[in-house]
Amino acid sequence: MSIAESLFKKAAWYHTFMPRIVDVEVTRACNLKCIGCPRATEQSIAYRGELKHLDPTMLGRILEAIPTVRLVNFIGDGEPLFNPHFNYLVSDLHLKGIKLMFTTNGTLVKQSDVDCWAMYDNAIRSVTVSLDSLRPDKFEQLRPGASYQRVMSTLAMLREARIPTRINMVLVKENENEIEDFINYFSHTDSEGTSSDVNFTHPIFAQGSDLEGKPYTRASVTPAFRRCLYPFAWPYITLEGDVYACCYMVGGNRQEWFMGEAIDVPNDNYRMGNIYQQDFRDIWYSMMYRALRWQIKRTEHLGDRQTSIGTLGDMRRHLDDYRFAYCTVCLYRWGCSC
Ligand SMILES: C[S@@+](CC[C@H](N)C(=O)[O-])C[C@H]1O[C@@H](n2cnc3c(N)ncnc32)[C@H](O)[C@@H]1O
Ligand code: SF4
Ligand code: SF4
Repeated sequence: MSIAESLFKKAAWYHTFMPRIVDVEVTRACNLKCIGCPRATEQSIAYRGELKHLDPTMLGRILEAIPTVRLVNFIGDGEPLFNPHFNYLVSDLHLKGIKLMFTTNGTLVKQSDVDCWAMYDNAIRSVTVSLDSLRPDKFEQLRPGASYQRVMSTLAMLREARIPTRINMVLVKENENEIEDFINYFSHTDSEGTSSDVNFTHPIFAQGSDLEGKPYTRASVTPAFRRCLYPFAWPYITLEGDVYACCYMVGGNRQEWFMGEAIDVPNDNYRMGNIYQQDFRDIWYSMMYRALRWQIKRTEHLGDRQTSIGTLGDMRRHLDDYRFAYCTVCLYRWGCSC
């Protein structure tokens, strides 16, 4: 994070500016069936509505509605490169002087795509490539349908084009012994002077016990509280134009597993508004957004900034029924998920 960004985030906590960053859902289609992906549950946003892909008109309307945006993050339960308009979207953003970041499974990227992105000097802030193992057989077992060699050659193309890359590794029991290998492999600087940051992600388990999948849910782990700035700085917009405060609030009645126990995420009333039907300012400064921000601030100093797995589990079991009660126990806020 740059100094300017970190200053903006600090200021945003005290004064709600219009957003400079926005998460935009880019597609609901995918070519893989990764184990653990939210797509594996029917409640995934991937199965909502008729729309499948973001197109340039939809993106244009979003950017018109939020003229302060300088960085777009393409997001969703799908593969961005599956969107047939993808390179048009990249070029549109470039023409408007807005930077882009996105996460890809790396299996559909062609040399011609990378050449096109490289042509738009600095338009791509970063490309995150999902890589769950450095062992081809393990990788292909965790990401059925993907070819390890193909993903590694995508990374090589990106690095050669000097497009900043990051690696997202979802930590599960099958790959927990590879953390050091990832650090060694990606901190190595190649002949172009390029290396990649690695983001080790705690997975969210929506369709099976986390005790069976996650390596670090043992009672000895101490959840550590971190500040959530999404409602203050960074909205999420779906293909339909619905606005949510964060990706946790987008899924419908999703269940989350924590220490072998499923809890319902009470999120059927988290839609903040619709950017195609309302003025975005009215949504961003609405009573509902204000109530959420108040709730986040109110629960900022509940006590210790660390708790035990047991206490967090108890808090999750006894959720109050006011609208944003979930924020108090959100796994993101407690450092237990991405
Ligand atoms: C849902 S994918 C969408 C982008 C693209 N299809 C991909 O795989 O990179 C976004 C990120 O979520 C990660 N992911 C998958 N399952 C997850 C889970 N259960 N919890 C947290 N992150 C997960 C993926 O590894 C990927 O880096
Ligand atoms: S490629 Fe991405 S969206 Fe598709 S199944 Fe895998 S994690 Fe999910
Ligand atoms: S605390 Fe969690 S659920 Fe609440 S806004 Fe932040 S990320 Fe979303």
